Amino acid sequence: MAAGMETIEHEHAAARASSWWQTAVVYQVYIRSFADGNGDGIGDIAGLRSRLPYLAELGVDAIWINPWYRSPMADAGYDVADFRDIDPSYGTLGEAEALIEEAHRLGIKVIPDIVPNHTSDQHPWFRAALRGARGARDRYVFRPGRGPNGELPPNDWVSCFGGPAWTRVADGQWYLHLFAPAQPDLNWEHPDVRREFEQVLRFWFDRGVDGFRIDVAHGLAKTPGLPDAGTRIPGSQHTDPHPAWDQDAVHAIYRGWRAVANRYVPERIFIAEAWVRSNERLARYLRRDELHTAFQFDFLRSPWRADSLRTVIADAMAGAAAVGAPPTWVLSNHDVPRTVTRYARSQPSHLVESEWERARWATEPADHDTGRRRARAAALLQLALPGTAYIYQGEELGLEEVEDLPHDVRQDPTWVQSGFTDVGRDGCRVPLPWSDCSAPYGFSPGGSSASPWLPQPPHWESHTAEVQAADPNSFLTLYRSAVRTRRRLWENAGPVEWMSAPAGVLAFARGGAQCWVNTGADNVELPANLTVALSSTPGVTGCVPPDTTVWVVEG
Ligand code: GLC
Ligand code: CA
Repeated sequence: MAAGMETIEHEHAAARASSWWQTAVVYQVYIRSFADGNGDGIGDIAGLRSRLPYLAELGVDAIWINPWYRSPMADAGYDVADFRDIDPSYGTLGEAEALIEEAHRLGIKVIPDIVPNHTSDQHPWFRAALRGARGARDRYVFRPGRGPNGELPPNDWVSCFGGPAWTRVADGQWYLHLFAPAQPDLNWEHPDVRREFEQVLRFWFDRGVDGFRIDVAHGLAKTPGLPDAGTRIPGSQHTDPHPAWDQDAVHAIYRGWRAVANRYVPERIFIAEAWVRSNERLARYLRRDELHTAFQFDFLRSPWRADSLRTVIADAMAGAAAVGAPPTWVLSNHDVPRTVTRYARSQPSHLVESEWERARWATEPADHDTGRRRARAAALLQLALPGTAYIYQGEELGLEEVEDLPHDVRQDPTWVQSGFTDVGRDGCRVPLPWSDCSAPYGFSPGGSSASPWLPQPPHWESHTAEVQAADPNSFLTLYRSAVRTRRRLWENAGPVEWMSAPAGVLAFARGGAQCWVNTGADNVELPANLTVALSSTPGVTGCVPPDTTVWVVEG
């Protein structure tokens, strides 16, 4: 770290001391699959609005809503055609405004997703670029090809979804897309691009949103000259530097964004999705004049093993502390296999790699009971840590990855672009079960003729929010208690103090409370002076059973 930075950052930390986002529990709404208000089988704003009381009861501080902008949905809305309008399948701008207001009335902050790395190929700018309108290609990354007739892509980069990162247009030029061909990358060296996004931020801040989750925040700046990447993979968790990712030039962009946000009261905040190769690199996004927080993904890459979890947690806390930012804890999201399923198979000894070694996971039978026990325990670990915690919709219901979706219903572009070798992310995006004994389980209103956009498994009848709300031992009841108890025990409890613990066990104190996590195979006795305040396994008193987390207090 640069000399002098530490002092500045300490002042910074002090200045931030009382902000809601430093300790928030944020619920991720994957809008397409949350709740369908108009009965077309696709989640929407009306559905989300009708379920706000559920989120208030869960006790979350904020919701992050996956992209709701006008989009042809080539990548579930991450291909935006108009950043200032809502997709008609989700509702209208007026409905979005009403949602923001109503959420605020219930004490819930609203954080939409912003997608600055690319647009849809249907965005007016890209259509103008394809038409060859003067200067329009400069806003994207167009290049001539290599080879005698330009028939080879300009460099060797590959798309995160598989296949080359370049597509050739009719007149022979190529354009860059780090994701699907329908998601052309923007050229962030172009002043129009910078101006446009700062205006989009203002557009939504003026409508009351409390911040943004920034999609692919590490991708906006590319190494000048676009050199070949060689064997370095494009995926998310590369340990080698890659010319498309995490370039230093990206930080000037966020300094501009922060200046925009700083003009608003109450404060507006940013959360970066930045898959970078070290906590030190991540901390750069969190400098005082840049972003407020960033996802730290090692927690969800960690196997269910005390030693690995402890290392990941300690490193993440140290990385964030170095710049005075709160650490963030994520167990899953709409891009990774659900927690229950990751924990339902044998646990590797290392952090899992790109795409969570999907193929390997799928060849081993899943023991969902074990997966659910561990996921409950992981939730209590997550919610006991300092900083912000993210709950991906359905995590609170203990949903598993739907691994047996018929191939013909798959919508994730990864499936096609990988040449049908990677099933992609649809399995964690199946619409939520709310009530009733058969599909759509209350996802769509009664009497709707359309089925949910992805089919729900028959056994979700026993996982609906309705069934779980009535069961004192359910996942949902555990989450509700945990979010409430967190406020009392942990919210302002100070730093983690590690305690010595037997192999396979993780134990720490924060303030007057302790958190014990048993990832091993044997029961662990608790000291006699401790009382269990909350346990992930029902009915626990003097010990911590395997795959269990307990929150304990003295006395
Ligand atoms: C992010 C999103 C993912 C999307 C990609 C391209 O990683 O979380 O869902 O496919 O960006 O926008
Ligand atoms: Ca709908």
